[in-house]
Amino acid sequence: MSDERKHGSGSVAPGDTSDRVGMQVIRERGGDPEEIREALIDAIGAEFSTYYYYTNLRTHLAGHEDYKEIAEDARLEDRAHFELVMPRVYELGGHIPRDIGDFMDRAGCPHAELPEEPNAENILETLLEAERCAIRTWSEVCDMTEGCDPRTYDMASRILQEEIDHEAWFIELLSMERDGETNPAGHFVRGEPGEAPYSTNNRINDSA
Ligand SMILES: [Fe+2]
Ligand SMILES: [Fe+2]
Repeated sequence: MSDERKHGSGSVAPGDTSDRVGMQVIRERGGDPEEIREALIDAIGAEFSTYYYYTNLRTHLAGHEDYKEIAEDARLEDRAHFELVMPRVYELGGHIPRDIGDFMDRAGCPHAELPEEPNAENILETLLEAERCAIRTWSEVCDMTEGCDPRTYDMASRILQEEIDHEAWFIELLSMERDGETNPAGHFVRGEPGEAPYSTNNRINDSA
């Protein structure tokens, strides 16, 4: 019988859809799935808002086509981060807010609004600080999940890889634009706009 096998049964009754083994195993390893889930909602609120605000920032980089291209990669990758993690909120027994206003109110980073004086220097600084907030956010999620929630940890660490890329891009661009200094990221452009090499979610109807 299956319940005689090592993992054939556990704390969730057979057929019980009101509880999740995927949450219980986190608890059994010292994690708090509800706390992780709420942190994820705050974190993807910031990703979603950044996707929106970067749309406007990128638009105002007209004439700096190289900057626009890099802002576009960062913008699309933030959308990928939202999409990667959103299903995890549901797996952890939660849901994204019904009201987008509520969702934006709890975003864990400041809105990356267009600066009063929307020149390239000010826009690049706004982009840089948004990336830094994202690095802090996903590093915190890694800390919360390391050793207790490998699925969320894997997502957060993949996103973190891209956020650190993004910080390096905007340090490079701001250093040259504002200070005339060479401060290389050591990277080259993504293969496709917003390629999200670490974090891209499974694409629906992807025939590749
Ligand atoms: Fe992001
Ligand atoms: Fe980013």
